[in-house]
Amino acid sequence: MSLLKNRDKKFLTENTFVYIPPMAGVTDIAYRTLCREMDENVVLATEMLSSKSLTFAHSNRKEHQHAQRLTIPDGDELTGVQIFGHEPDVMAEAAKIATDLGAVFIDINMGCPVAKIVNGMDGAALMKEPELACQIVEKVKAATHLPVTVKTRLGWCEGSLNAPFLAREFEKLGVAAMTIHGRTRAQKYTGSAKWSLIKEVVDAVKIPIFANGDVKTLEDAKKVFEETGAYGIAIARATMGKPWFSKQVSHYIETGLVLEEPSLEDKLKLAQKHCELLVKFKGNHIGIQESRRHINNYISGMSGAAKFRSRINQIESLDDAKREIDLIFINNQ
Ligand SMILES: Cc1cc2nc3c(=O)[nH]c(=O)nc-3n(C[C@H](O)[C@H](O)[C@H](O)COP(=O)(O)O)c2cc1C
Repeated sequence: MSLLKNRDKKFLTENTFVYIPPMAGVTDIAYRTLCREMDENVVLATEMLSSKSLTFAHSNRKEHQHAQRLTIPDGDELTGVQIFGHEPDVMAEAAKIATDLGAVFIDINMGCPVAKIVNGMDGAALMKEPELACQIVEKVKAATHLPVTVKTRLGWCEGSLNAPFLAREFEKLGVAAMTIHGRTRAQKYTGSAKWSLIKEVVDAVKIPIFANGDVKTLEDAKKVFEETGAYGIAIARATMGKPWFSKQVSHYIETGLVLEEPSLEDKLKLAQKHCELLVKFKGNHIGIQESRRHINNYISGMSGAAKFRSRINQIESLDDAKREIDLIFINNQ
C-alpha cells in the first residue's frame, strides 16, 4: 500500500515510517550517508536551509555555497530538503531550486524555536501567523511537483496549541505529510514531549503524521505509536552516534523482535567512517572539528568515554581520530 499515490518517486510507502528529521549541524551529507547505509527505508532530510540565502546564492551563481548542504546521493529516493523563511515568494523560489537539485520532498520548517530564527518571523513563529503560514504552503506547493511536508511544534505556547488547526488547513492545501514535535515553542527543548497532544493532530487529519519528540528507546517508539496512532515516527537526537537505531525501531515495530546492537568493533568502525566522510566532504579543518562531537556521541556510555573526551577534543587529523578510536576499542575489549 502506498500512502501517497501518483508520485514519481517512492517517498512514503508501507516501509517508510521512520524518519530522521533535520538537525542543523548534524544531518549533513556524511551523517545521511551512514544512516542510509544502515537503513534503506529511513526517511531523511537535510539540515534546515535558509530560503533567502539559497535564492541569493543561486541568483548570484554561488550555488557551491549550498551544494554540499544540499547534496543528495543519486538514486536516493527518500531524502528531503528542509527550507525555512517567511516570504512566500522566496520560499517558493527556494523550493524550486531544491527540486532542481534532486530533493525528493520539500519540508517547510515551522518548528525551529531559536530566538534569531523566530525573531525574523521564521520557524516556529509561523505558527502564530496561520494566514502567512498557509500562503507559504500554497506558494511552495505551486512551485514544485514534489510532495510538500511541514514540520511544526504543538503551538507557540501552552495557550495556543494550534497544531491540529494548522494541520487541517495544510491538508486542504495539499500538504503530503507533517511532522509534529510534541513541545511548544515556549518549551524549546525543556520538559517532555506530549505525545497525547500529537494524537489530537493525528485525529484531525487524514494525511500521514510523524510523531516526534523524546523517543530514546525501542519501548518509547512502541509507546508513541500506541499513544498517538501516528503514521510514522521521527527520531532525531537518539540517532546521534547510533545511525543503526532507525532500523532497530522499524524492525521492532514491524516484528516485535529486537535487532542486535552492532558489535563494539562495528560501532567504532562506523565512527571512523563518519570521520572519513566528514573530511572527504568538508576538508580536514572543518571535517575534524565536526568529527570530535560525533566521536563523542559514538563512544557515549563506553568504558573510559569521559577520559577520552578531552583527548578527542584535541584531535587535529584523521589519523589522530582513528588512533583515538582504536585506543577506545582496546580499552573496551
Ligand atoms: C542539534 C539539533 C538541530 C536541529 N535542527 C533542526 C532543523 O534544522 N530543523 C528542524 O525542523 N528541526 C531541527 N531540530 C529539531 C529536531 O528535528 C527534533 O524535532 C527535536 O530534536 C525533537 O526530537 P528528538 O527528541 O527525537 O530529538 C534540531 C534538533 C537538534 C538537537
